[in-house]
Amino acid sequence: MSVLDEIRRYASGYGFEEPWTSERGYRLFYNENLFMEKEYYEKLLEGVDAEALRTYSDPDDLELRAMLGKFFGLDAENIFPGSGVDYVISVLLNLALLLGKGVVLAEPTYGMYREKAEARLLRVRRVLLRKEDFALPVMDICFVAGDGDFVIACSPNNPTGNRFREDAMLEIAERVKGLVVVDETYVEYSGGSLIRRVSEYPNLVVLRSFSKAWGLAGLRFGFAAASEDVVRALKKISEPYGVSALKRAVVLRALSLYSYVERSVEETRSVRNYMFNRMADIEGVQPYPSDANFILFRVGDSAAVKEGLAREGFLVRDVSDKPLLEDCLRVTVPPRPIAEEFLDALEKVSSIAERRDL
Ligand SMILES: Cc1ncc(COP(=O)(O)O)c(C=O)c1O
Repeated sequence: MSVLDEIRRYASGYGFEEPWTSERGYRLFYNENLFMEKEYYEKLLEGVDAEALRTYSDPDDLELRAMLGKFFGLDAENIFPGSGVDYVISVLLNLALLLGKGVVLAEPTYGMYREKAEARLLRVRRVLLRKEDFALPVMDICFVAGDGDFVIACSPNNPTGNRFREDAMLEIAERVKGLVVVDETYVEYSGGSLIRRVSEYPNLVVLRSFSKAWGLAGLRFGFAAASEDVVRALKKISEPYGVSALKRAVVLRALSLYSYVERSVEETRSVRNYMFNRMADIEGVQPYPSDANFILFRVGDSAAVKEGLAREGFLVRDVSDKPLLEDCLRVTVPPRPIAEEFLDALEKVSSIAERRDL
């Protein structure tokens, strides 16, 4: 087989399952922040100096790292900024590759870890979450992590929605020799971030995103918080100028607009609770408690319910191919009027799917 044939074979697996436009209905499968006020976006670009684009940005991103450090209670040296958590994950996996380490994933979880680790031919080991409550099996993870593999867990976890106990994560960090990466992309919706603990645990890496609660998925910004040595290694292995001047200006502005984030989180949580209670009352629907801005729910026939919801104008994510999640779907929490329409549609669709089952 020629190299081009090999490349074609590899590329043939590329594609996204869902449409990214919302023409067919409300797009409730990306877990974006649908609550953020328009005013926030108007204010974000105020005072942005376009002339900063003339020159290369500071390759060390010192001002940005210092401001993020100040905001999150750490030093600039503890911050590694990048184009979204996805980018930071890639750099971490490159570090694992460089060091000859594998990765341990607490699954079911965000698919990107496995996909990108496998693309690097890294050894991936799976430890299943506890079936009853999706809790983290601490001892299993420590056992499997062996002699220095990276442990990656996501808290709150996507798509299960639950957050892991702080002491469970810290116990793993204490026991294993490798890096312990805690992806806190949804942590604003749950509280209880471990970000400040990176100063006590030199192998702990906490990932934070600006795509969810900060309402800036299109900006592509996220960062890792870690000990100084880990941050230096991540910087060494990644490209310089990873954060554009424009991105830096918007992030700094967003930090000063945090009250908008807080408000949107509060509203999301209130609608989330309302949705959970109503979903629990629908026959054939079993929602799982969520600490994030989405809800995982089990139905009788996930394919039929997903299709039915799409016909009603609600696009949700089918996660039923993941371990432990047979017939499960995941829906982003939308503002209350849309949530009400969604729940009416779910009631209608799941009862039709149930009847068809008989
Ligand atoms: C757990 C988790 N981590 C990371 C990401 C990606 O974050 P970002 O947009 O910052 O790359 C997502 C996106 O859905 C996610 O669910």
